[in-house]
Amino acid sequence: MRITQSEPYVSAAMRHVHNAQANGGGNWPEALDPVLEPSLIDDAVDEIRRWPGYRPTPLIALKGLSDELGVAGVWYKDEATRFGLGSFKALGGAYAVLCLLRQILTSKLGKSVGTEAIRSGEYRTETREVTVATATDGNHGRSVAWGAQQFGCRCMIYIHAEVSAVRKQAMEAYGATVVRVNGNYDESVRQAAADAAERGWHVVSDTSYPGYTELPQRVMAGYGLMVDEVLDQLPPDQLPTHVFIQGGVGGLAAAVCARFWQRLGDHRPRTVIAEPDQADCLYRSALHQKPVAVHITEESIMAGLSCGEVSQLAWNVLHHGANDFITIEDSLIGPTMRALAEGLGGAAPIVGGESGVAGLAALIAVGADPSLAAALGLDSGSRILLLGTEGATDPEIYRDLVGRAAETVLG
Ligand SMILES: Cc1ncc(COP(=O)(O)O)c(C=O)c1O
Repeated sequence: MRITQSEPYVSAAMRHVHNAQANGGGNWPEALDPVLEPSLIDDAVDEIRRWPGYRPTPLIALKGLSDELGVAGVWYKDEATRFGLGSFKALGGAYAVLCLLRQILTSKLGKSVGTEAIRSGEYRTETREVTVATATDGNHGRSVAWGAQQFGCRCMIYIHAEVSAVRKQAMEAYGATVVRVNGNYDESVRQAAADAAERGWHVVSDTSYPGYTELPQRVMAGYGLMVDEVLDQLPPDQLPTHVFIQGGVGGLAAAVCARFWQRLGDHRPRTVIAEPDQADCLYRSALHQKPVAVHITEESIMAGLSCGEVSQLAWNVLHHGANDFITIEDSLIGPTMRALAEGLGGAAPIVGGESGVAGLAALIAVGADPSLAAALGLDSGSRILLLGTEGATDPEIYRDLVGRAAETVLG
């Protein structure tokens, strides 16, 4: 593969580990059903497609980039417009809030309560009594806050010291109370869990830990919708051979890996996970073949990926299904965002946020490293799917990195 960048990457050191444990062929193993069974994703897909304002996000062919890389195709699924929230996370947290309310109402009222009745506000008196809480670096919290507002319950959000004021305000705009914790993301997770236990709130987390799996499972099920959309959007003879996905706690990557496996069996794409150098918990877990926590001493510019502990459920899928794990440096992110904004390889300008472009940044960096490209099995027949998981979720940071506001880029 070859790639020329108008703006050379600074210090593109990457680490790669191949997960020999990953099941190369075969169908989705039934043994993984307890982690994320197909019907859970079917339910989420069916539900979210009914929400007002739902429409599939665009899948954009980056023809010029695939020519430069010498591969058969590169597609970028642009999640910037998802339900007006700016990221794919709109699919997860909000859906989990709805599932939680259905469960609470069903047990409280002693009858089966449908999601449509909750959405229509029929149970507002009861839902107002419920408080959901979560820790977040921004996007998940925005989804939970939006879901709480839509479905009529209260919402407490915990953010860590480095989460920007703009991201905080975005959650407050959906009616959430936002608490800033003096620590990192993992500390905000612990604080949210402790306060919720004391006050009878319900934690709606996107990361699972021992004894807490049900709602993270629903969050991941919601993410699965992106794969169903991609499979509707691509002709059957153009299915991806590779998917490059950015990892935080791994929930997104696990959901995408699982859904492709469930839908395509043997023909599922090779799953390549990209993480920030400073928050490489998935990479290290793959290296040691068990969940390994990382103490984050410096926050990555990829705020949504700056997580030090893998989600237990996600790991169960990734351990068996993810083929490769790579780390990338923060220095790749600004140039990648600018390249997208300028119209990468002749494509129309795209607004991609810091975490959202990580998979693309990794692909471009791999393209400049022939031995790594070969190790990942990339060649002229490869078709690569990228998930552009966020737009300018923090407009100030976006403007600083790109030099122009997102609205100007879209012109
Ligand atoms: C934009 C974006 N992309 C990717 C991710 C990674 O998702 P996960 O933490 O499930 O791995 C996040 C997480 O917050 C995110 O905000």
